[in-house]
Amino acid sequence: MNNKITKVIFPVAGLGTRFLPATKAIPKEMLPIIDKPLIQYAVEEARGAGIEDFIFVVGDLNQALLEAHFGENKTLNATLADRQKTNELKRVNEASILAPNIHFCTQDQPLGLGHAVWCARDFIDAGESFAVILPDDLIQATPGCLSQMMKVWQDRGGNVVAVEDVPREMTNRYGILDVTEDDGRIATACGLVEKPDPAAAPSTLSIIGRYILDGRVFDHLDKQQTGAGGEIQLTDAISKTIEDVAFHGLRFDGLRFDCGSMAGFVEANVAFALAQKDQESDVRARLKRHL
Ligand code: G1P
Repeated sequence: MNNKITKVIFPVAGLGTRFLPATKAIPKEMLPIIDKPLIQYAVEEARGAGIEDFIFVVGDLNQALLEAHFGENKTLNATLADRQKTNELKRVNEASILAPNIHFCTQDQPLGLGHAVWCARDFIDAGESFAVILPDDLIQATPGCLSQMMKVWQDRGGNVVAVEDVPREMTNRYGILDVTEDDGRIATACGLVEKPDPAAAPSTLSIIGRYILDGRVFDHLDKQQTGAGGEIQLTDAISKTIEDVAFHGLRFDGLRFDCGSMAGFVEANVAFALAQKDQESDVRARLKRHL
């Protein structure tokens, strides 16, 4: 087994309908939490976990914006340097991903998360394991969530996903584990169900948008079978590998914000503002006016 994972897939072709009209011209992964777009948090988390190649599965509009954000802007850099804005220049440079480590492929139809990952198949070598990050799920954690998962993967191999317990009435929003063993931190599963009705859910342990996947998942994604909601589900393809590939869910240390929802997005902004020491007391005082 190769003991290093160097590639991450970001499925970012979604329409972001819940945030329209904000997401009409700005794709949802470019929405900022304070001073960085969601996608940058995801890239930084991946980089912190040792990822070297960043593969974006895009729609019609967003490749150009992602290239602009992660590419080098010589005019901006020169202006910042001229004005001796060294801190700003450093932050801009930290955000860049240089060629040849940035890659794009297109998902031209909204056929589901499994389909989005399948669209990136040509970037993954035979037998290679890789990471998937859904930038909507923003995780505040040190070390980052993917780094925590890498440790589990180095010990146990197979598929590793981030998990969280959710209230039973919310199982129909997540991929849910059919748990066989659980030590309170790492759960082993013998199956997965995508968005089950609460009454039918095998547990309340749900998949959060972080995956380390064995390349054999493509054997099943290749078949393009549809599942819940008529979409090609990543959860179903992973579940079909479970007899051959061990499956572990990690309850990571950290806070997850569902930035695909209005309340989660607001909470993330508050949490990341409060985490900036020079802003904390001002933000706290202003929040009091509303609470
Ligand atoms: C996707 C996955 C689901 C997972 C969730 C995590 O669902 O299909 O299994 O639990 O992400 O955020 P989506 O949120 O795209 O509907």
